[in-house]
Amino acid sequence: MDFSIRAANVEDCKDIARMITELAEYEKMADHVKVTQRDLEQDGFSKNPFFHGIMAEVPEQHKTKEGHTKIGYALYFYSYSSWKGRAVYMEDLYVMPEFRGKGIGKALMSKVAQLGLAAGCNQLNFTVLDWNKSSLDFYLSQGCFDVTANMGYHCMRCEGEALEHLAQP
Ligand SMILES: CC(C)(COP(=O)(O)OP(=O)(O)OC[C@H]1O[C@@H](n2cnc3c(N)ncnc32)[C@H](O)[C@@H]1OP(=O)(O)O)[C@@H](O)C(=O)NCCC(=O)NCCS
Repeated sequence: MDFSIRAANVEDCKDIARMITELAEYEKMADHVKVTQRDLEQDGFSKNPFFHGIMAEVPEQHKTKEGHTKIGYALYFYSYSSWKGRAVYMEDLYVMPEFRGKGIGKALMSKVAQLGLAAGCNQLNFTVLDWNKSSLDFYLSQGCFDVTANMGYHCMRCEGEALEHLAQP
């Protein structure tokens, strides 16, 4: 199937917001999504963007029954490893169900890898839920390895009241 991969622009935020919800539903965590289309517009497309996006699009003749032609996306941002230097973090990778298995997910992730390498990054980092075996297998098939299993790292987070408390002088 014909598809194109390109950098996201502010006009894509409506579809990115839709697919963020679809991905969260797939991950059985839809109630965790607080980010709105407007947040995405501000945070990704103003002077100092907090993230960048890549879109996957199909031609009109392959649009979904709801009329969508934007059918996949990746979100990423740059980070830094004190061991390895410049790194890129892929926050989301998603392809709508009817378009999976056609090379679109690989093309999106490959674009993130390409841009990361071009920016001097040595690592592409991301997380995957432990039960999400098919995505884990997809990542393994792309040569990635499991940092938790191999090196014992756990993802940690501080948010809400704990974050407010931590920030008290
Ligand atoms: C994970 C996801 C992005 C993969 O996208 P996709 O378009 O279906 O995958 P592709 O068709 O690009 O697959 C590319 C390659 O990975 C392989 N692959 C895909 N799924 C696989 C699986 N479950 N097990 C092993 N290999 C797999 C394909 O065989 C193909 O290999 P090839 O390059 O040798 O031909 C997509 O399935 C998806 O959106 N899943 C639901 C959301 C999700 O879990 N996102 C990740 C959250 S961490």
